[in-house]
Amino acid sequence: MAFLSRDLGIDLGTVNLVIAEGNEILLQEPTVVAIIVEEQKMVEWGRAARDMVGRVSDAIEVVRPLRNGVIAEFEVTENLLGYLVKKICGPMLIFRPRAMITVPYGITSVESRAVYEAGIGAGCGEVYLIQQPLAAAIGVDLPISTPSGNMIICLGGGANQAAVMAMNSIVSAETSRTGGLAMDDAIIFHVRKKFGVIIGQPTAEQLKIRIGAALSQEQSQILEVQGQDQVSGLPKPVQLSTDDIVDALQTPLADMVSVIRRVLEKTPPELLSDIIDRGVAICGGGALLRGIDKYLTKALGIPVYLVDNPTTCTAEGATRALGMRQLLRLSLVRV
Ligand SMILES: Nc1ncnc2c1ncn2[C@@H]1O[C@H](COP(=O)(O)OP(=O)(O)OP(=O)(O)O)[C@@H](O)[C@H]1O
Ligand SMILES: [Mg+2]
Repeated sequence: MAFLSRDLGIDLGTVNLVIAEGNEILLQEPTVVAIIVEEQKMVEWGRAARDMVGRVSDAIEVVRPLRNGVIAEFEVTENLLGYLVKKICGPMLIFRPRAMITVPYGITSVESRAVYEAGIGAGCGEVYLIQQPLAAAIGVDLPISTPSGNMIICLGGGANQAAVMAMNSIVSAETSRTGGLAMDDAIIFHVRKKFGVIIGQPTAEQLKIRIGAALSQEQSQILEVQGQDQVSGLPKPVQLSTDDIVDALQTPLADMVSVIRRVLEKTPPELLSDIIDRGVAICGGGALLRGIDKYLTKALGIPVYLVDNPTTCTAEGATRALGMRQLLRLSLVRV
């Protein structure tokens, strides 16, 4: 009856959870859960829970169960996955799905074990783990089964990962446990320092997405947001420009470049010359930051390009990897 069981690719991200099956994206939602504290019961998840961030009383806790790409709240993650697996496969789970779940490169064995256990606890019949850059590379059709070098950079919410792959495995890679959320923090810090105004994470993220950029733009945009005066505590509007956000992001961007440089430094020269010819792929939500491709191309001296499916490629690659288990047998994460 194996043909009735389903093959799910699960990109368990710090900020977004994406589940794919074959070429279809079954869901793409924020990895956020709202829980009634007293009953420890999930009341909302995904977008509905994310929209509650910073807006609810103490009776409800809004949780991001992953931190920097690894599980921080095991039970919350397991319950969320369990709820979603039942939503997709039916409440009785007569045919338990096979799942390929992504984990960041360089995760510890304890951390990867937790992901495996959460998948099994959620009702999956078989659980396999794949490193995110490998899944993303498969999801964007990089020719990773050939001896030529391929490089992908995953710019996530909780981690940035850069990896060089050949012959179905990762040759050199690095993870920095900072990502888009650290960019939001940098914007919060900048607004407080320059204007004396405190803003929350959702506002900082809106500024980044709506007017932010990695490089100064010809057409600078302005956005007014509401904050809180740091001295009086009273509401105070503040106007920010694209250049303010560019300034705020310089530290996290420099960190990103140093992670990528470290990977290039440990990559064998033969593979490096392939990468220079083919360019470097960037994916993840962070790859949508305006001008990031140009910024990285300039900083690294290698062409960097945005893939067609930056926010879904990891889940798409994960579901495809289920059919490539034999080819990938030396590269999948052991638990
Ligand atoms: N247009 C944009 N410009 C800049 N950043 C963006 C944009 N759109 C989304 N992001 C950021 O991308 C991040 C989410 O990306 P993604 O969904 O790839 O992360 P994730 O997979 O959940 O995290 P991780 O892989 O690190 O665990 C968020 O920090 C979000 O603010
Ligand atoms: Mg991710």
